[in-house]
Parts: sequence; C-alpha cells; structure tokens
Amino acid sequence: MRIGVLTGGGDAPGLNAAIRAITRKAGHEGWEVLGFRNGWLGVLERDYIPLDRDTVKGILPRGGTILGTSRTNPYKRRGGPEKLLRNLERLGVDALTPIGGEDTLGVALRLSQQGVPLVGVPKTIDNDLFETDYTIGLSTAVETVSDALDRLHSTAEAHHRVMVLEVMGRHAGWIATLGGLAGGADLILTPEVPFVVEEVLLHIRRRHEELRRMFSVIVVAEGARPKELESSIVQEAGVDEFGHTRLGGIGEFIAHQIEKLMGYEARVTVLGHLQRGGSPSSFDRILATRLGAAAVDMVKEGTFGVMVALKSNRITSVPLEKALRGSRSVDLDLYQLAHYFY
Ligand code: F6P
Repeated sequence: MRIGVLTGGGDAPGLNAAIRAITRKAGHEGWEVLGFRNGWLGVLERDYIPLDRDTVKGILPRGGTILGTSRTNPYKRRGGPEKLLRNLERLGVDALTPIGGEDTLGVALRLSQQGVPLVGVPKTIDNDLFETDYTIGLSTAVETVSDALDRLHSTAEAHHRVMVLEVMGRHAGWIATLGGLAGGADLILTPEVPFVVEEVLLHIRRRHEELRRMFSVIVVAEGARPKELESSIVQEAGVDEFGHTRLGGIGEFIAHQIEKLMGYEARVTVLGHLQRGGSPSSFDRILATRLGAAAVDMVKEGTFGVMVALKSNRITSVPLEKALRGSRSVDLDLYQLAHYFY
C-alpha cells in the first residue's frame, strides 16, 4: 500500500503533527508514504519526498509544514485534473490524505468524485469547515490573539487609548470571538454580524463616560464590515486561484473613525501571519495527531470521500460534501456570551 499526503492553502500550526501522525500510523501498517510538496502543485509536478519514521523525527512541535504549501487550484490549470489522475496512477498512489481547508478539500472532493480514493484532514486557523468542532490551527491562533490582547490591555490602560486588534477570519469570526473572550476584549466584530459605526462609537463613549473606563480594546476580524459598506475592505485588487481577495484594513478604518468622530486616541495592531506561525498549542498537537491517525484508519477500512472530524471530543468521519457546504459561522452563543463582558 502506498499513500500520498499533502498540505494546501494557508499554513496552520499543527500541520507537521498531522503529517507525522499519518506517516507513523501508516508505518505501523507497513505502508509507504509519499509527501507531495507545496499542496496540489506537488501532485501536478510529481514533486514529492518519501516520508518515514526518520523524516518526520522532531517535527511535532514545529510550525509551518515540512512539505511546503501553495494555493494551487488544479481545476484552474489547463489539463490539471487529467495530470493529477495520471500522476497518481504512475506513482502507484493507492490513496491520498490531503490536509487543508475549504479550497484544498474542495479540490479533494472533485477528485474523489472522479474516483480517487481519499480522506481529507481539516486544517484552517479560521475554523470555518462544517461537521467538525475544531480544525487544526485554530487553538494556537486563539492563544496568539489572547496573548496579544493581554499586552494591548496594559499599554491601552497606560495611555488611555482605544486599541484595535485586527485578526484573521475571512468569512467566520471564530478567531476573533474565542480570542476576544480569552483576552477580555471590550468589543468583538466579526464577519457574520455587520456592524454600525455609530454603535461602535456609542459603546466606546459609554465605557469612557459612564463606566469611567478610559481605555478600550476592540478585536475585529479582517472580514468584518460596517453595514454601510457592501463588502469587506481589501488590501489590493486581484484574487488568487480560488477567487479570494487579500483582506485587510478594517482595523485602520475603525481606529480612524474613533479618532475623527470622537477625538479619542486610537492605535491599530494587525496581527496577521503571527497567528499562523510558531509552535502549535498542545490542543493542536493532540487534535492533529488524532485526526492524522484516524485518516489512516479510514484508508485501511476503505472509507473514502470523507473528512476526519472532531465531534463532541470523539474522532469520526463525515462526507466531504457535508463539511464543505459553505462557511461555518461562529457559534452565536459564544458571540453573545462575549457581550456580557463588554
Ligand atoms: O488560511 C485562511 C487565512 O488565514 C484567512 O483568514 C486569511 O484571509 C488568509 O488566510 C490569508 O492568507 P495569505 O496571506 O497566506 O494569502
């Protein structure tokens, strides 16, 4: 038996832990593992490295991915799908275990519909896949946000300022909401609930004037937008192979409104890729290990076209179509809970 593994899309802490788990579990079965480099590009170009106990030694705590990643969409390249099928056959790959988010697993779904036996592994710091409670990377990103908020609190208080922290989250506000809850944010703005600028200002004024809290810390997801705007603020025109724009700027927008319309001093921190880098949290290491090992179990029992998932702390598998039926919004109970602490 020979299986292929790849990591696609934005990297996330815990990818190496998943690669290690797949390799080690497959090793126990006596299988060979090919690690394709840079996501689907590696399959298109037959660019791979053999993975075994030795090659995955010491990678559990490492951020990034030893395989590299890319946002390559084979279905956007001429002859791409045919090439994928041909290369997998030539290399004698019996099954694939792609690790990724909506884009990488979207390609996996189409390939599986063309008959490729595969099991997806959910990864994205955005946590916006359906049918799994958590995806690999979210926990570490939330730790980073919570740590940033602790630091911003002390400087905000010292200077009597409003600090705006812009975090990742294209369609869903999981990072903003969980990070904001953990770090005691005074306001959380997410893509799911467009906000009214006037209400944000009133909230800050109330804190200052009624509660005598002379500083505030706001967390805003990059995909959040004011009701007045039709779409999220983008950094530059153009889209990637999956049609995504590069978001960024909402934090600056909010801080500017606060300074201009209220006269309070405001500063912005864009946390950016710090949320994706670094060593995974223990939670992400364990989640990735459980999911990676389960993917090998699925291959062994011949369950394909699925994604391994965490549901109520049990590892299970779900059809890829169900996991990819859109973008999973943040749990509104959590979002509401945060309001009690504003
Ligand atoms: O992986 C998802 C994500 O974290 C989004 O929240 C963000 O918009 C995107 O990645 C940015 O990725 P990059 O800068 O690598 O294109």
